[in-house]
Amino acid sequence: MKCVTCRGPAVIDIRRQNANYCVDHFFEQCRRQVTKAIDEWKMIEPSDRVLVAVSGGKDSLAIWDLLIELGYQADGFYVGLGIGEYSEVSHSHAAAFAESRGLTLLTVDIPTSYGYDIPTGSRAARRAPCSACGLSKRHLFDAAALEGGYDVLVTGHNLDDEAAVLFGNTLHWHTEYLGRQLPVLPARDGFPKKVKPLVRLTERETAAYCLLKGIDYLVDECPMAVGNRHLSYKEALNDIEVKSPGAKHSFYFGFLDRASKHFAPEADEDREGLEPCLTCGAPTPSGTCAFCRLVDRAGGHQPEPVPVELGAIRTRTTS
Ligand code: FES
Ligand code: ZN
Ligand code: ZN
Repeated sequence: MKCVTCRGPAVIDIRRQNANYCVDHFFEQCRRQVTKAIDEWKMIEPSDRVLVAVSGGKDSLAIWDLLIELGYQADGFYVGLGIGEYSEVSHSHAAAFAESRGLTLLTVDIPTSYGYDIPTGSRAARRAPCSACGLSKRHLFDAAALEGGYDVLVTGHNLDDEAAVLFGNTLHWHTEYLGRQLPVLPARDGFPKKVKPLVRLTERETAAYCLLKGIDYLVDECPMAVGNRHLSYKEALNDIEVKSPGAKHSFYFGFLDRASKHFAPEADEDREGLEPCLTCGAPTPSGTCAFCRLVDRAGGHQPEPVPVELGAIRTRTTS
């Protein structure tokens, strides 16, 4: 197996491109794909202050590393979910990465700041764990980006994630979600700009990037995600990809090119008429936002105001 660029020994084959790469040209390929996504969708300006949502897994550490390599100024943001040892280990991976590169990792620990954890929250709210988790993380990511004055919030969603979400939303015709499934969501009242610069790379590639770069990431899946439909959609798409290399790519990018605009009006409707949450001020259709209701049902509390540099709910763990 030879590298398509230099004819040296290749370490990875990428079947959808019908190409093999050596270590250096694979890194170059990853940087090129991220740059292409950023340029094509106007995700990040060179002077932007970037906040990366970091879980300690391969995708978030890979994109943080790639953004730094590409010269962006990017801090990390970690949310402690209170999922036992899984949360402890994931935080240690995120913190070790930040420390090894002298980067800033901001942290909110949900049990410490809000008095609940994801297992309790999901039971109390009668939501699937991943739903309570996603709701909590989205709320805290948005708050951290806005309160910290960041220009853009980066998440580590890769091509497999986006294709699986698209597959699920299409199977069930969740048209309002289809209208919102874009690699960039612009800033608007109460929401930061959100971007997904990894959409041109698969999770196999982000894992290979971390391994070859010596980035120690958390390999284990979240224990609460067992039975999650998103994982079964990923498996189904992986089976299709084996027989038809490039299927995920053409499914997702074909949707963006040809279909997503047809669903935009429904997503826009969903975003209209929001007002500030009575408890926390985040945008919500009316009354108290879903996050504050979850905190309440789980027997938690709003955080005590602590006068730290970036607002009441954050602690700086690395600088
Ligand atoms: Fe969110 Fe597992 S990481 S439920
Ligand atoms: Zn090469
Ligand atoms: Zn609220």
